[in-house]
Amino acid sequence: MNPFIFPKESNSLVKKHLSQKICQALEHLKTDSGFTLEKAIHSGLKNPDSAIGIYAGDAQSYQTFSPVFDPVILEYHGGVENLKHKSDIRELDLPVLDPEGKYILSTRIRIARNLKGFSFPCHMTLSHRRELEKKIIMALSCLKGNLKGNYYSFEHADKKELKQLETKNFWFQKGDRFQDAAGINSDFPKCRGVYLSFDKQLMVWVNEEDHLRIISLEKTSDLSKVYNRLCQAILSLNQTLAFAWDKTYGHLTSCPTNIGTSMRAGVHIQLEKLEQKKEILFNITRACNLQIRGTCGEKTKIENAVFDISNRQRLGISESRIIQNLHAGLLAIIKAEKSI
Ligand code: ARG
Repeated sequence: MNPFIFPKESNSLVKKHLSQKICQALEHLKTDSGFTLEKAIHSGLKNPDSAIGIYAGDAQSYQTFSPVFDPVILEYHGGVENLKHKSDIRELDLPVLDPEGKYILSTRIRIARNLKGFSFPCHMTLSHRRELEKKIIMALSCLKGNLKGNYYSFEHADKKELKQLETKNFWFQKGDRFQDAAGINSDFPKCRGVYLSFDKQLMVWVNEEDHLRIISLEKTSDLSKVYNRLCQAILSLNQTLAFAWDKTYGHLTSCPTNIGTSMRAGVHIQLEKLEQKKEILFNITRACNLQIRGTCGEKTKIENAVFDISNRQRLGISESRIIQNLHAGLLAIIKAEKSI
């Protein structure tokens, strides 16, 4: 008997792929750091509206529990025939998408990283989080030029200063109920913080869903500019930090939706015409393998016809290819918006 009963209404990928046979093979296994199948799927069991429903507690989870992770990964990253990651972090020079700023309000590109040798955020003790935060602060302090900035600890920074960061969205909130059930919120806000470059175009989240979320952002439609800044930041950080990595799965993240490049590149785009003809927009995003999120992020509503459009696939595709595809997809979307 499968000891894990998923809610009837749940349509998560983990429910779909965790057969009784796989469950029996995995339920007694533990990674070296003590992570179990039960912990991995706890969020999916608790939240019937999970789309995925499984998190990794450490790098080894992807190997130990591969009979359930692999089919989830294959289905999510649609179009991946073989699990194989190809990295290609190099600067690009693409034409600016919307030079007059009529549609694209801002561009935001993030990648996630976890440090080699540490458990992932859903499976960390407070002292591990502390040690990790220290290490990361050291690495961040080595960033140079326009990447230079300050680290704001959620525990120790001035409350007024934190409030300001929050109002301007240079900040992250305590994780949602999906992350909460996974254990990602433990001890929040301890050992959490945000690094912000002086020009406010680079932000690094520390100890959110992954150890690091490195985010390049700007009110521009110049994808290359935002991407190139991210490339510089990641290459600099990689000189001091070693990241959890696997030649098959690429960069290893808490959620299997992020493995591979771990990159989400997107824009906030206002599409007043297409909002009335969503089918046309959905056809383009489907064809270009793009994802639509709400104005205020994942699982939020569209407000003022502002869509958050980003790449869907993160594995089996390189970083620069993601940017090129997004660029092509957005050109098609802008063309459609203009022609209505
Ligand atoms: N665990 C949630 C679900 O299954 C979120 C999945 C993707 N989002 C994320 N932030 N990792 O729906």
